[in-house]
Amino acid sequence: MKKVLFVTSEAVPFIKTGGLADVTGSLPKYFDKKKYDVRIMIPKYLCIEEKLTADLENLGNFSISLGWREQYVGVFHKVVEGVTYYFIDNEYYFDGDQPYNRIYEDVEKFAFFSKAAIAAMKFIDFQADIIHCHDWQTGMVPVFLKYFYGEDPFYQKMKTVFTIHNLKFQGRWKLNEVKDITGLPAKFFMPDQLESYGEANYLKGGIVYSDMVTTVSKSYAQEITTPEGGEGLDGLLRAKSDHLYGIVNGIDYDEYDPVTDQRIGTHFDKMNVVKMKPANKAGLQEELGLPKEEDAFLIGIVSRMTVQKGMDLIAYVMDELLGDKKIQFAVLGTGEERFENMFRHFAWKYERQMGVCLQYSEDLAHRIYAGADAFLMPSMFEPCGLSQLMSMRYGTVPMVRETGGLRDTVCPYNEYEQTGNGFSFANYNAHEMLHMIRYAKDTYVNHRNEWNGIVKRAMECDFSWNASARDYETLYEELLKMQ
Ligand code: GLC
Repeated sequence: MKKVLFVTSEAVPFIKTGGLADVTGSLPKYFDKKKYDVRIMIPKYLCIEEKLTADLENLGNFSISLGWREQYVGVFHKVVEGVTYYFIDNEYYFDGDQPYNRIYEDVEKFAFFSKAAIAAMKFIDFQADIIHCHDWQTGMVPVFLKYFYGEDPFYQKMKTVFTIHNLKFQGRWKLNEVKDITGLPAKFFMPDQLESYGEANYLKGGIVYSDMVTTVSKSYAQEITTPEGGEGLDGLLRAKSDHLYGIVNGIDYDEYDPVTDQRIGTHFDKMNVVKMKPANKAGLQEELGLPKEEDAFLIGIVSRMTVQKGMDLIAYVMDELLGDKKIQFAVLGTGEERFENMFRHFAWKYERQMGVCLQYSEDLAHRIYAGADAFLMPSMFEPCGLSQLMSMRYGTVPMVRETGGLRDTVCPYNEYEQTGNGFSFANYNAHEMLHMIRYAKDTYVNHRNEWNGIVKRAMECDFSWNASARDYETLYEELLKMQ
């Protein structure tokens, strides 16, 4: 039995700000339990809902040094659906009403978390064969492991994997301050180490010091080795490309299941989706105050409102799009104020066509996945993307830009061969997007049988974790063979 520890700044069901939490909180369930014991370690943020932390078991505490500071580390634990979660406690670092705050606070917080996570393994006697780190917040784990724990026999054989969920966020801060916070010697801050464009860079630390680097789709793994997609680190990633793998994310098929989902009005499967979806659509229209028009083309958006997600393309052509009175939108999400205001504006201007909810709601998200006809995701870049997978699971046709994981999971409709599970466009251009949406709507309105074929093919795809968890197992096996 091999032991693996996921070290991550967020994981469902405890704390989530984005797709990272869905992945780290669901993937461990899908490993072969006879071969792998995969556990998860996260911070015990004070903002985790109390009902979720009320019954944590306290495993004790100890202290670590972080530079010149001496810090308390508490360790708690809880088993959820057969998976063990460990929580690192320190109220000084993990207070506040959200996991991330200002960058200069976060660099110290996650230096602490990374070092505490390593030290905690010995404290609880969980000697992992592999430490699997996720995103910049845990980029210092492989660095600390090497420098502070490299001589300790308990840690010596441990291998590290670092998964990039989003290369854009790198955890960059002043060299001198990071030197002071971490207590690492000057040689770690050379240009071939943590230094990047005059700053210390945690993500770079993870890439340089881990034994293997992965990201969340094959296309993104390739894109990040180019100047366009490399966010300044493409040279390094090209150099590392022998140890850089793309494994596409899955979604939790128990959590997202139109046959059993408690959050949706009417259950369905791929045999009766065409018959049953209208009830979910009508329910969604009603919930969002839209006229219950069966023949309107209802487009869902569930997204962080940021540039990455293509919000400026949407802003650009909304008036043109909504000139067509048979197009409706169901929008859910929060993010940058200018995009929230954009949706507020269009909701006011086109109140019979725009149902907008600028909040975070798992419940409404499921009802949009189940009730909309199509789902719009015109991302500028997208490491993997999970919403398009959730939509397809509910027979909602994705309309995406061909980038990263969107390109790998959505195969565009071909009307001559009757293939494809969605619609797509290539260039980051608002009118290309508009053209795609009009083509999709035309297919929906004038070629309903063909449309229903797309729906069926989308539902027949398998985006559960089954395939990808096997890929991670293969990678772990290779890693364990490495000297
Ligand atoms: C980030 C990426 C997204 C990916 C998710 C989980 O949120 O932006 O594309 O699906 O991480 O890996």
